[in-house]
Amino acid sequence: MSSPNRLDLKLRAAQRAIDLVSPGMTVGLGSGSTATLWIRLLGEQVRDRGLTIRAVASSEDSEHLARSFGIPIVALEESRQLDLTVDGADEIAPGLALIKGGGGKLLREKIVASATKRFVIVADDSKVVDKLGNHPLPVEVIHMAAPLVKHSLQELGFQVALRRNVDGSPYITDEGNLLFDCSGLLIDDPPRLAAILDGTVGLVEHGLFLGMASLALIAGEDGVVERKS
Ligand code: A5P
Repeated sequence: MSSPNRLDLKLRAAQRAIDLVSPGMTVGLGSGSTATLWIRLLGEQVRDRGLTIRAVASSEDSEHLARSFGIPIVALEESRQLDLTVDGADEIAPGLALIKGGGGKLLREKIVASATKRFVIVADDSKVVDKLGNHPLPVEVIHMAAPLVKHSLQELGFQVALRRNVDGSPYITDEGNLLFDCSGLLIDDPPRLAAILDGTVGLVEHGLFLGMASLALIAGEDGVVERKS
């Protein structure tokens, strides 16, 4: 029997997360390939099985996909607290310290996660690390402050690359900002780094998600393992 590929593993993790949904919930929709699989599974429950939920989306892509299945989308104005958010991650370290934002949606993802009672990560086991930082840390920055923030990030020891589209133009986030991908530094003290980044003027948000997730469903060849914070 051939071993499952990464997409199969992502799907298995996403399937497990469906068990966490109950009728009447307000659900946060993550972004990225694993969250997309989860939104599709959730959408099938809504479209084909009459599941009644409403959702807040963390990206325009996720909103569009959810609407295509008939999932009702609401704004945070209508529902300030979400019952459950399910999202992917780029790296998962002990304590469920995360790097997110590989897909460029970290700002809205963090807003949705912060408004959620139960934030759950779905991933394949390639995302599990002992220490954060092998995956570049995405940092969202407003245009005007970009040169200053870049310099501050370099002073911290990062190599800083402006994220670009395939045509070479700068990648622009859903909120109209630029993204830096920060690499070359293993992160020994994530809370300390997060505090520095949080205090950097013009830096809108960063991809360190600390103390937010309560559960990770991680799929490997031997099945789906639960990790709790
Ligand atoms: C999107 O901005 C990200 O935070 C994703 O959740 C993360 O990059 C994981 O993506 P995949 O599920 O595609 O691996």
